[in-house]
Amino acid sequence: MRILGIETSCDETAAAVVDDGRIVRSNVIASSRDEFARTGGVIPEEAARRQLECIQPVIARALEDAGTAMDGVDAVAVTHAPGLLGSLLVGTIAARTLAWIHRKPLIPVHHTLGHLSSPWLGTGADGEPAFPILTLSASGGHTELWLRTSHASGTLLGQTRDDAAGEAFDKGASLLGLPYPGGPAIAAAAAVGNPDAFSFPLPLAGDDSCDWSFSGLKTALKYLLRDEPSACERMPDLAASFERAICLHLVDRLENALQRHGDVREVHLVGGVSANERLRDMVASLGKTTRWPSARAYCTDNGAMIAGAAYFLQQEVPSAIGAAFVTSASLPLSLR
Ligand code: KG4
Ligand code: ZN
Repeated sequence: MRILGIETSCDETAAAVVDDGRIVRSNVIASSRDEFARTGGVIPEEAARRQLECIQPVIARALEDAGTAMDGVDAVAVTHAPGLLGSLLVGTIAARTLAWIHRKPLIPVHHTLGHLSSPWLGTGADGEPAFPILTLSASGGHTELWLRTSHASGTLLGQTRDDAAGEAFDKGASLLGLPYPGGPAIAAAAAVGNPDAFSFPLPLAGDDSCDWSFSGLKTALKYLLRDEPSACERMPDLAASFERAICLHLVDRLENALQRHGDVREVHLVGGVSANERLRDMVASLGKTTRWPSARAYCTDNGAMIAGAAYFLQQEVPSAIGAAFVTSASLPLSLR
């Protein structure tokens, strides 16, 4: 089954063609990241305006790269929630229009479900992930821990109580004078640094939940810079220590979950923060089969993950297909 996936929930305009939830025929992403690097963050109105300009050429390019046209596509999938409302509307209106004109089924996909399906992209049918899976989904907008028993069923074990993990990287980078998005900038600065050089508190130490709280780490960094301004002269050490503090907190909660759910067969990392090498190394040492998306472009927001999620979703829940959905900035993901 060949699905055209469209994703416009934040500052990216993305479209992809994916066969059977795994084989990526094309994956096109137009990002206004460089513009927002200048402003230090995304300006919603600006993002939506850029997406209006980009959406048609991006979809056309995704079809062209895949060597297909709309008559070769079996369904259209689109992110319908959550995200920036104006941005989501650009994608959902484009998808509705295409599906209506070409008489194709339309499959609305929750953005987080897209990330959860991203480790299947580029895998063959034999190397398939095995459920139950513990998935850490960490991006600039959310940080959630899911225990999944199938593509469409599972339980939310924990989530952030304040900032998202990616937001902690972004805000930390801003304090350090590094560019947006902060994750890659901090990781690059940290590459030659000593992660033990500066100490940061472990948030929620002693709390046995699977929740996170990142705002204290940001405050700790702020006070460190105020009390010890010369620390900035040791940017690699500072970046490595801050990066490690975020990763330690993420992994601490994974350990809590694994203690309680010993039947978990795999641990997955998805979302923009799953591109982080230090986090990958730390999670790989937990003693479970570990996976993350097979390409960096599948970690951050993309259309392929939406097409992939739609494929597995319609297999398990045929009633998920249909145009009667709401476009929502805040709808939480609910699995069966
Ligand atoms: O999933 P994503 O593209 O968009 C959202 O849904 O938010 O994630 C973007 C986030 C940003 O906060 C960015 O700083 C973070 O992912 N990120 C990283 C890395 N690459 C991107 N964080 C840590 N290390 C990275 N290498
Ligand atoms: Zn995302």
